[in-house]
Amino acid sequence: MKIQLRSDSVESIQTELLMVNYFKEEVSDGNLQAEILKQFDLEVEGFLKESLDRKEIQGESGESILLRGKKRAIFLFCSGSKSDFDAGALKNFSAQSIRRAKKLGYLKTSLFCRGLEDFKTRTSLLVEGIYVGNYSFNLFKESENGLSNGKSSENQKEKAPIEVNIFCDSASLKEEEKKLEEGKIVGESICFARDLINRPSNHCTPSILLEEAKRFSKGTKLKMKVFEEEDAEKMKMHSFLSVAKGSDEPAKIILLHHKPSQSKKKIALVGKGITFDTGGISLKPSSNMHEMKGDMSGAAAVLGAMVAISKLNLPIEVLGIVPTTENMPSGHATKPGDIVRAMNGKSIEILNTDAEGRLILADALCYAVQEKAEQIIDVATLTGACVVALGEITTGLMTNQNHLAHEFIRLSEECGEKVWQLPLFKEYHEQIKSDIADVANIGGRYGGTITAAAFLEKFVSDVPWIHLDIAGTFWSNKDAYYSKGGTGVMVTSLVRYTEKLANS
Ligand code: BES
Ligand code: ZN
Ligand code: ZN
Repeated sequence: MKIQLRSDSVESIQTELLMVNYFKEEVSDGNLQAEILKQFDLEVEGFLKESLDRKEIQGESGESILLRGKKRAIFLFCSGSKSDFDAGALKNFSAQSIRRAKKLGYLKTSLFCRGLEDFKTRTSLLVEGIYVGNYSFNLFKESENGLSNGKSSENQKEKAPIEVNIFCDSASLKEEEKKLEEGKIVGESICFARDLINRPSNHCTPSILLEEAKRFSKGTKLKMKVFEEEDAEKMKMHSFLSVAKGSDEPAKIILLHHKPSQSKKKIALVGKGITFDTGGISLKPSSNMHEMKGDMSGAAAVLGAMVAISKLNLPIEVLGIVPTTENMPSGHATKPGDIVRAMNGKSIEILNTDAEGRLILADALCYAVQEKAEQIIDVATLTGACVVALGEITTGLMTNQNHLAHEFIRLSEECGEKVWQLPLFKEYHEQIKSDIADVANIGGRYGGTITAAAFLEKFVSDVPWIHLDIAGTFWSNKDAYYSKGGTGVMVTSLVRYTEKLANS
């Protein structure tokens, strides 16, 4: 798919399909209130106004209409009220438009997004939406012999548009050209993350995750290092190893290092990489257990973000840390009540083996501290309680420094990802006290998302730290902005937040 900028006029462009958004206010009184809509109406001999009269369109957010004129077809998409138009709505327009174009088999298309004046990063947002809208998971549908050589879906031939032109002011063409490239980089990383999440666990073991990370980072300047279980043993990462014990698949810690020649700061991105979470001996109920193939979505987000950070050559040192293992019950598995010591010497009473994410993150966070990261951000499908609290719309954020929350939430808003802070008051630490160890790995019935974060906090020393719980947002259960399946959530926010740190 070729995505390019065009600065000629909407009237003159002759691609097969033109995709344009409109706002509620422009149709809500039964008249076409924008000049451009009137022009389109002329082009299709009054069909648009007729549709409005028949109330086929009413200004509802997400409604759309396809008009076929003599020289081209026009797809109109309603972005709701102008005052509600935000980065999410902007990305939704390009995603839904491309998805429709693909369905209808239009090969040469143009995207004209209106109402962009307030968006600095408009072109990259539009491009990101194009990638999301064009995405489908077809690693298993292509051929009879399963994986079609592990290539990610963006490379596979479908009836996707071969050309998408994005309209742009000629005055800002140069600036937007840069944003276009950024959008492509982020878009590719999101598709990569979604492919990993959508893979079933037999096609996404820790070893396969490593192979995929290698493949996707090929050609970048990222340095990769891997800790095998023996290495973890030497480093006294017994919390991590306690989860790996039950599985026959070798566990790993994947490290990706971005070290530009100029960098004043060093941060760490840590992602939970449980390639399947059965719960271990504290076995999960079987209904919906298959969804736990996505328990490595934090890892996917970090790997995707690291590659994007490297391709964008952000002037900041970033260490990506991905502890990855299965969580399985077996004769070797950790049992409830077992006590292990993490890398920082703290003893942990494992009262529930299904609270395993925090156990693998504990050692990964200790490692980030040891490596002298000045700020740590972790991403994890950590608690079912987060889905109860925030639903499937919003990622939960907790931090040991509130001002970081404000900055992260502001930037994620700018790139159309919803994040909300939950408190992490000291009092929550009471709930994870153990009678016989330094800390217990569960904190009782109430405030489960927060007590999980309180547990993690024990392993970050005083390093400024943000924890993102994506248990509600890693997966989409309906076709909306994302099609059903893994979302790749937080790739964009991680990249943009890192960019901000690099430039401040
Ligand atoms: N991976 C799960 C959390 C999860 C649940 C992610 C639903 C996505 C959707 C995690 O390892 C887990 O099992 N957490 C337990 C913790 C409990 C035992 C304290 C949970 O949330 O039930
Ligand atoms: Zn679990
Ligand atoms: Zn888990």
